Amino acid sequence: MALYKLLTLLSIIAMTSAGMIVHESRTFVPAGFVSEGLAPANDMLTLRVALTSNNIAGLEEKLMSLSTPGSPEFRQWLSMEEVKSFVQPSSETVSAFSSFASANGLEPTVISPNGDWVSITLPVSQANQLFATQFEVFTHPDMSDTITRTLSVSLPSELVGHVDVIHPTTQFTGPNTRLAPTSFISLDRPVVDPSCNSSLPSGVVTPTCLQELYGIPATPAAENASSLLVTAYEDEFAQTADLSGPDDAGIEANLDVQYTTANFGSSMAIKICNGYMALGTRGISVVFASGDGGVRGGHDDTSVCDDNTFIPVFPAACPFVTAVGSTQGFGPEKAINFTGGGFSNFFPAPSYQTAAVASFLKTIPSDFAGTFNQSGRAYPDASVQGFSPSLQGWNFEIVSDGEVGLVGGTSASSPTFASIIALINDQLIAAGKPVLGFLNPFIYSTASTAFTDITIGHNSGFVCPASSVAFDAAVGWDALTGFGTPIFSELLAAAMA
Ligand SMILES: *[C@@H]1O[C@H](CO)[C@@H](O)[C@H](O)[C@H]1NC(C)=O
Ligand SMILES: *[C@@H]1O[C@H](CO)[C@@H](O)[C@H](O)[C@H]1NC(C)=O
Ligand SMILES: *[C@@H]1O[C@H](CO)[C@@H](O)[C@H](O)[C@H]1NC(C)=O
Ligand SMILES: *[C@@H]1O[C@H](CO)[C@@H](O)[C@H](O)[C@H]1NC(C)=O
Repeated sequence: MALYKLLTLLSIIAMTSAGMIVHESRTFVPAGFVSEGLAPANDMLTLRVALTSNNIAGLEEKLMSLSTPGSPEFRQWLSMEEVKSFVQPSSETVSAFSSFASANGLEPTVISPNGDWVSITLPVSQANQLFATQFEVFTHPDMSDTITRTLSVSLPSELVGHVDVIHPTTQFTGPNTRLAPTSFISLDRPVVDPSCNSSLPSGVVTPTCLQELYGIPATPAAENASSLLVTAYEDEFAQTADLSGPDDAGIEANLDVQYTTANFGSSMAIKICNGYMALGTRGISVVFASGDGGVRGGHDDTSVCDDNTFIPVFPAACPFVTAVGSTQGFGPEKAINFTGGGFSNFFPAPSYQTAAVASFLKTIPSDFAGTFNQSGRAYPDASVQGFSPSLQGWNFEIVSDGEVGLVGGTSASSPTFASIIALINDQLIAAGKPVLGFLNPFIYSTASTAFTDITIGHNSGFVCPASSVAFDAAVGWDALTGFGTPIFSELLAAAMA
């Protein structure tokens, strides 16, 4: 009897696990998250499912061809329809998912213009059965809402090769780690716009200061001095995940979030990174902050200072975005200690940067105590002012919702860099030329000398002491400031060439 029961049980296990292939799993819950127990069986879940694109490798090849100076199709950016032909799932993928959905009474809704994201709504119990998950409810001390996640998600074999991501499942992105210990110091006063030198007593980084420092002509900003100061923050990565791009290419998307890749999960990071790839082919420059934790993630704290395994951040580590770090000071400009930089564990180094990065790796001593992935995509690509050492430090003046205030960090540097790209695009458009689009192959080749090389700095973090292991700025590209800070006239000349 007991044996019979055992055999029955075993055969049930075999049946339920037959054909289920683990898609993504994690062995532990990321720090800060606490399980409050199993998610109630009858709670409804809406899962977003990324269907595999029909030709993402072809799109990557296309992007490199479009964005590499000297290529016959240089900057001949694609239309939305052309991008769709690469990104949309194949008819086999669509029918595999449709059959699965209808066999299980699910009604998928297409939620992206290219048809590569669908959503399904189902009870927790059914999700647990269909994807061999065990959804739990988690809390985090810095988050007011609970999240429902699982430590493992599987796919029935008929969906393997057709589904890239099921979200939310194993992704623990936590609170938005965008930086600045003080994110916005509100000032009850109008905009002041002194030059870098005359602002030395207050140390405020302003449009006039930036124009002076990087040789940006005064005309565009003089029309409205506020415009360079206006920054738009995107809080939800979800808003950025719809990556079809607008009808009119030629804009810069500056996005300000940083997540630790390990918590994000590789399938989601790859899917979103591929979305940035698609934006690049449309002629859109996607610019991200490199993070404010130096070599230790989006934001360092005392618990990580002794950890010599460096923590890369996402999306800066995506090879299809331009990651921007922070400098401080004016004579000479130096890398600030918190400027995010490092090497991805998910994304291999793209060919456009292998030579520059190999030169940097040679500067690292053989007894270097830091552990990082030398074969990964290295970031940042460039840098801009993001901090002023005087007063409270966060002396980068912005106008947000009509209010004048001070911020700091790579969150200030990346929109500044994006505005410089926008000014160059204005001139390209006025000259009847295509916009810059995906920047990196251009930055690493013909434009690599259009930057002031920043050679001083150690990115151990804002909190971690300078004695903590980190990278050092070096001659040429380095993992603190990329190629350095822009020289407007040279960047413009390289763009117009
Ligand atoms: C500030 O003044 C110093 C000395 O006059 C000069 O060398 C430096 O280039 C100036 N800084 C800027 C950003 O113009
Ligand atoms: C300048 O920009 C600010 C901020 O966007 C805006 O409120 C103001 O109306 C603009 N002024 C002019 C003259 O365009
Ligand atoms: C290093 O990065 C590569 C991708 O470039 C990845 O395949 C590999 O797993 C990474 N190694 C570690 C230890 O994370
Ligand atoms: C990082 O640099 C800033 C500016 O120089 C300084 O205020 C801060 O104390 C530094 N952090 C550490 C841990 O030294």
